[in-house]
Amino acid sequence: MENLVITWMLLTLALAMPRAHVTAQILEPQEAWFRNLCQGKEKVAQLRFYIQDALSGPNSTVWEVARSNITSTSPTSFGQVSVIDDLITAEPNPNSMKLGRAQGLITVADLQVPAIAMNINFYFNAGEYNGSSLCILGRNQILSENRELPVVGGTGAFRMSRGYSISNTYSYDPVANYGILEYTVYVTYVE
Ligand SMILES: *[C@@H]1O[C@H](CO)[C@@H](O)[C@H](O)[C@H]1NC(C)=O
Ligand SMILES: *[C@@H]1O[C@H](CO)[C@@H](O)[C@H](O)[C@H]1NC(C)=O
Ligand SMILES: *[C@@H]1O[C@H](CO)[C@@H](O)[C@H](O)[C@H]1NC(C)=O
Repeated sequence: MENLVITWMLLTLALAMPRAHVTAQILEPQEAWFRNLCQGKEKVAQLRFYIQDALSGPNSTVWEVARSNITSTSPTSFGQVSVIDDLITAEPNPNSMKLGRAQGLITVADLQVPAIAMNINFYFNAGEYNGSSLCILGRNQILSENRELPVVGGTGAFRMSRGYSISNTYSYDPVANYGILEYTVYVTYVE
């Protein structure tokens, strides 16, 4: 019986092999990263960076673009939609190495607790990942600790990435209305 099963498995494999081979021939991956992808050479990276969130004043990097009729009376500012273009730095200090920008849309989407639906692209224009980007999408309950959001993809070094990010408010200055957010991102990537 065992022998039969093994024979059957080998047969199935033999039948399946030529098809896989033909597919590989058709693809003929030229680019190194694509060859590595075909060979399953996926790696995991952990990144840490800081987001400079300037929430008011002429140099604000967060701007409201729409609101609902109930936004001004809602305890959470429900329905407020803003576009952000925040500086990404290597360290919490706003004058530390500039790594890129966090660009996208944030929508207050919870009637009960302060939580936003985010659609943000981390675009790196310096450092190791210059030219690459990571896309983050999900629910962010902004007053909680260790907020987890999914990394849904990326470009450049982060092509076909997936993973998650953990974010915390590193500091918030209520007078300047200026927040510094810490992001730790765990992503898979192909070298
Ligand atoms: C805004 O940015 C400009 C140019 O960097 C700077 O000169 C100015 O002092 C800034 N204004 C405030 C209020 O921070
Ligand atoms: C929003 O408020 C304005 C002014 O009070 C009102 O005219 C409008 O009908 C409201 N819109 C909706 C969708 O409730
Ligand atoms: C990032 O890459 C671009 C394009 O290759 C290059 O022009 C630029 O100088 C790089 N920036 C840094 C800070 O290395």
